[in-house]
Amino acid sequence: MPTELVDNIDHIITDPVTYGDEHLYHEVFATLRQSDPVHWCETANYRPFWAVTRHADVTRVELDAKSFHNAPRQFLVTIDDEKMLQETTGSSNFARNLVAMDDPDHRVFRAMTAAWFGQKSIRSIEDEIAALARETVDRMVAMDGHCDFAKDISAWFPLRTIMIVLGVPREDEPLMLELSQKLFGNTDAETGGGEGMASMLDAFNAFNAYFAGVTADRRANPRDDVATILANATIDGEPIGEAERNAYYLIVAAAGHDTTSSAISGGLLGLIRNPDQMEKLRADPSLMPKAVDEFIRWTSPVKHFFRTAVADCEVGGKAIKAGDNLMMCYPSANRDEAVFDDPFAFRIDRFPNRHVAFGYGPHVCLGQYLAKLEMRLLYTELLSRVHDIRLDGDPAWVEANFVSGLKRLPIAYRT
Ligand code: HEM
Repeated sequence: MPTELVDNIDHIITDPVTYGDEHLYHEVFATLRQSDPVHWCETANYRPFWAVTRHADVTRVELDAKSFHNAPRQFLVTIDDEKMLQETTGSSNFARNLVAMDDPDHRVFRAMTAAWFGQKSIRSIEDEIAALARETVDRMVAMDGHCDFAKDISAWFPLRTIMIVLGVPREDEPLMLELSQKLFGNTDAETGGGEGMASMLDAFNAFNAYFAGVTADRRANPRDDVATILANATIDGEPIGEAERNAYYLIVAAAGHDTTSSAISGGLLGLIRNPDQMEKLRADPSLMPKAVDEFIRWTSPVKHFFRTAVADCEVGGKAIKAGDNLMMCYPSANRDEAVFDDPFAFRIDRFPNRHVAFGYGPHVCLGQYLAKLEMRLLYTELLSRVHDIRLDGDPAWVEANFVSGLKRLPIAYRT
């Protein structure tokens, strides 16, 4: 790796712009895995932390939730934004949701919806998602052989799925799309307005106001959806607090959207760039579940989550002090040469595929079966009806250091 990159590694890891360039961050992480796998990172804009880049260290830290807590730091927030958050909300955390909780609270709150999101129960909405997948591909067919797959297709499909999960009416989808993009892609001028924490807080308040109405409705008219579970959830016979309920709506509404859409569009780019893999999948649709896992490993839409050491310990040979923050670098762990055979090859039949794009351990993604179901249904529909898919312009990635993926994927195709 060139010396100017080595000298700037701390800045590169944290800079949102880095994540608009997949070659750059993979190059930096590959260097770290090799030479300094648990790397102390100090920059002017962010509080310091350890960057954990190897698969073995990421899984070990995430599995040991007693020694490594999710509170008080979950993802990169600039020092200025942390101050602003503290002044505005009195906390360094604007929503105490599942990812900010540790046991015993985490166990209790996760259990509320865990059964609903389980591998078997999620099939109860399979027909509805399959209908949505058909409708999504109908839209592509109507677009006359050209579309921006990232903007026109993959941004909408997971959002509509989440609307089904929450039972939110269709006319509110544009509002939900805008709010979740402000919350997750907010450092990118094109998709988030580049307004930083101020726009994030506005979006957060708008979310809360919206879901107060949903709660009132589900108390009066319960249904079989996640909103009904959250609206009526109790602990020791008492309704859960409003802040916790809002935070839960937020994590469900926002966490399943940009993540899944990034995996969907990044998967298609992988197939376009690897025509032999596209052919293989078309020829044998039974490979779809394996292909979906490879799309998710390949794209690793969530770039990191943090853990905080409870006591002095050692990770990857480095002495970690109690209170130190550790960044779990998922894209890096998912290209770890020690775990994946030829990790930079995109193979739709990769097996085993022990990727950690959904995290690991007690906080592992609650929506992983939903995300995989969505992707399987959409790709089954897409590959059976859309042919000769090719690039029709340059792809571009969101410049965000937490959740990111393609923001533009112009394609041409035949139906
Ligand atoms: C947690 C990734 C889709 C809801 C997480 C975590 C990651 C992740 C990395 C943190 C895990 C950890 O700390 O160990 C992804 C990816 C997705 C995706 C890559 C799509 C490809 C979804 C969907 C939902 C969802 C569709 C729908 C509800 C959640 C929730 C958590 C979570 C609620 C917090 C779990 C906890 O802390 O207990 N996800 N996710 N995600 N995800 Fe996802």
